[in-house]
Order: sequence, then structure tokens, then C-alpha cells
Amino acid sequence: MVEATLKPTESPRSEVPPNQNQAAKQLMRKINEIQELPTLSTVFAQVLSLLQDINTPAEELARVIEKDQAMVPKLLKLVNSSFFGFADKVSSVQHAIMLLGFSTVRNAVLSVEVINALKLRRKIQDFDITRFWRHAIAVAVIGRHLDEMTGKQYREDAFAGGLIHDIGKIVMAYYFIDRFEATWKSMHRDNLYFWEAERLHFPIDHAAIGAQLAKRWNLPDRLKNVVAHHHTGITRGDEDNLVLIVHAADALANQYMDEEMQDRQWPILEEARKLLARQIDSVEEWMPEIKEEILSACAVLIK
Ligand SMILES: [Fe+2]
Ligand SMILES: [Fe+2]
Repeated sequence: MVEATLKPTESPRSEVPPNQNQAAKQLMRKINEIQELPTLSTVFAQVLSLLQDINTPAEELARVIEKDQAMVPKLLKLVNSSFFGFADKVSSVQHAIMLLGFSTVRNAVLSVEVINALKLRRKIQDFDITRFWRHAIAVAVIGRHLDEMTGKQYREDAFAGGLIHDIGKIVMAYYFIDRFEATWKSMHRDNLYFWEAERLHFPIDHAAIGAQLAKRWNLPDRLKNVVAHHHTGITRGDEDNLVLIVHAADALANQYMDEEMQDRQWPILEEARKLLARQIDSVEEWMPEIKEEILSACAVLIK
């Protein structure tokens, strides 16, 4: 067990002390050596690579997705749910691509894939995987709305980033069960946030671990960035705002969509507050409308 050297009350931005660096490196090495980390299907890898080329014909993309027979019915069910709200029934993958566009279909495929790949191996005390995915979907939907309200710069990436932001927690739960259970215990016993409790038992946080998994999956850099920085907002390049949108969506989802969490204030970084001041101030007005959307996406994606 790693010695607890950080006080749980410190902010998520505080520096990792040098004596933890060694333990952090070791844990990261361990994760890199895990051969059987959850993988996404080869179909998803092909979808990603086809989408690099904007000239890929819809039929070609549809052919690749249709190779995965388990994927097709789930995808059509999602597309036909009130989440997308089309009046006419979407009956084929190609039809879905034409109606929704490439990036939305990519994210629908990613959603089905990720939730499928990250099934828990065994029940972990206090950790409710359904609740985990409900939170992820809420962050995805809220993130997409925040982006829509602020210029539609990131569109579907705000959804995808929200969906995967906490995947590191699943790696913790999969491969470091004892530490993960201890983290949950500390969290409940001492009324800590997860990011406070994990420091008592892990030398690196779920954001860094999740970024490692995103790297293994060859996800685009902007999505890796979201996973790595969703608590700190420290980013490089021009994707800063995407990270801040997902960061704020995370806090709002905890505050407004999770009954057990509502009684506490969720910290939002100053930069995110500045960027989304109007949306954060008016959250009580728009949140009830998108609750429906979140529930319908949950109904299709989580079994
Ligand atoms: Fe997180
Ligand atoms: Fe989260």
C-alpha cells in the first residue's frame, strides 16, 4: 500500500511531492505491462481510421460497422431513441450515417464499444458500475449542450470526452482492486471527493491512468487530453476549452444528476467559470430539459 503523503483537503491542482514520483512511475510501468488491458474492437479501430479521411464514402463506413453484428442492433436502437429524436425510423447503418453525419456515428459506436469493453470482472464493494456509466453519459450529454451553447466548436468531441473522462477509475477497479476498494472506503468514511480519497491509496490519479488507456486505444489527442486534464484543466494547444467544458460538465452532472451527491458543492475551475459563466449561472433553467435526453441515452446504452 502506498503511504498517504497528501492531505485530503488539498486542491486537485497541488503538485505531487518528489517522493511520490518513484511510486507513480512504478505504477505507470505496471499499467503499461498489463497485457490484457481492455481493448476496443478492430471494427472501432477501422472506423477511426476511415474517419481520418473526410472523403470516405458512407457505404464504406457502413460496411465496416456492419461487420460487427453485435454492434448494429445497439447502434440502431440508440439512433432511434428519443436521444436523437428523429421522427422517421432509421433502419440501416448507412441511413444513420447520412442522417447523423460521420462524427455522431463515430461517437455512437464509441459509446457502445467503450461500455462493452469496460465491464467489471467482479463486483466491487460500494462501486456501482451502472451508476458510473450513468454519470459518464450525463457528463457527455451536458458537455455537448455546453458546447452547443458556446459556439459549437467541439460538437461530438464534447460528448465523447464526457463519456470517457473517468475511464481510469475502471482500470483502477480492474487491476488494483484492493487499493480501489480502500479508496471507496476512505471516500465514504471521511466524506471525501474521489480525487481526494484516491491520493491516499494511489501515487497517480485516475486521470493519468485513464489517459494511458486512451493512448493504448489510439484515441485522438484531443480526447486523451480531456481524460488527462479533466480535473486540473492544464492543457496544451488549442483544445483547452474542450477540457474546460468537460470539466464543468463533470461538476454539473455530479451536482444535478446524482441524488447522492447533490448536498455538496462541486468545485469548478476559475477558467471554466469564466468561459461558461452564463451557462453555469442559468443551469437551473436548462438542466431539467436535458435530463430527459440523459435518461433516454442511459436506457439504451446501459443494460
Ligand atoms: Fe474524474
Ligand atoms: Fe466524473
